[in-house]
Amino acid sequence: MRRLVAEHRLHPSALILPVFVREGITEPKPLPSMPGVAQHSLASLREAAREARDLGLGGIMLFGVPETRDATGSASLSPDGILNRGLAEVRDEVGDDLVVMSDLCLDEFTDHGHCGVLDARGRVDNDATLEVYARMGVAQAQAGAHVVGPSGMMDGQIAAIRAALDTAALEDVSILAYAAKYASAFYGPFRDAVESELQGDRKTYQQDPANRRESLREVRLDLEEGADVVMVKPALGFLDVLADVAAVADVPVAAYQVSGEYAMVEAAAANGWINREAAITESLLSIHRAGANLILSYWAVEVARDLL
Ligand code: PBG
Repeated sequence: MRRLVAEHRLHPSALILPVFVREGITEPKPLPSMPGVAQHSLASLREAAREARDLGLGGIMLFGVPETRDATGSASLSPDGILNRGLAEVRDEVGDDLVVMSDLCLDEFTDHGHCGVLDARGRVDNDATLEVYARMGVAQAQAGAHVVGPSGMMDGQIAAIRAALDTAALEDVSILAYAAKYASAFYGPFRDAVESELQGDRKTYQQDPANRRESLREVRLDLEEGADVVMVKPALGFLDVLADVAAVADVPVAAYQVSGEYAMVEAAAANGWINREAAITESLLSIHRAGANLILSYWAVEVARDLL
């Protein structure tokens, strides 16, 4: 009876698996702060994509971890850069059976670890960054991304990327906007995963967790600029924001269950302090109930397998 009358259900097709592909490794490299998650080699990335496809996941979101970094993040633009190579391999593996997505941001590629290029005073230069994002979007789409996911929170990034894609005859490539993205302590394990060089914080471009209405402005701007999906991130601490966004957005709404949300449950479960499977299901259902149509989760494969 409870199953019959449940108001919300999880389904593999609504789940997106975030994956890391590391340049210069031949075996997957486990991540200590994210037990069960690894940096992939190009070969193991292909296997992960195949598994995600076979389980009926909605999509896969790629993050690149390059071996060398510079001030402008130039490895993000080259077709030989690790993220673009990974996209090509995954697209070759899954074709159109799994939606191939790409994180579009400079933080993994810059030697200072910021999401944009810096001005002479060392501050993130919003408009100079837009030019790089536009080229990155085209490079990722040409490599094989069905969807690009700008996550740098620069003002005007959706419009700049949309215009560049259209000019390059890539009108079919969609944009998943990290629209309401907070400067969060819950990204800690992710920064280990991408070997981030960041000193300091991202508070000049990511949102203040004290703010709620501000997210509606961020979402409205991204929708006006052409976002095809809007995302709230992190998820569990921002369910009020997610519900607000779901009430106004006329495109699909996504939420990102981030690395720290994953690590907290895994750590508590490893200590025998929490029922791991029940906590995973409850957290995903809560995110769905609050308004997310799509959920990025490091547990996507495991959950999809349990749902089959
Ligand atoms: C930026 C990006 C970050 C995450 C996804 N994209 C890190 C940041 O903004 O500092 C975090 C995801 C997670 O914590 O799981 N490229």
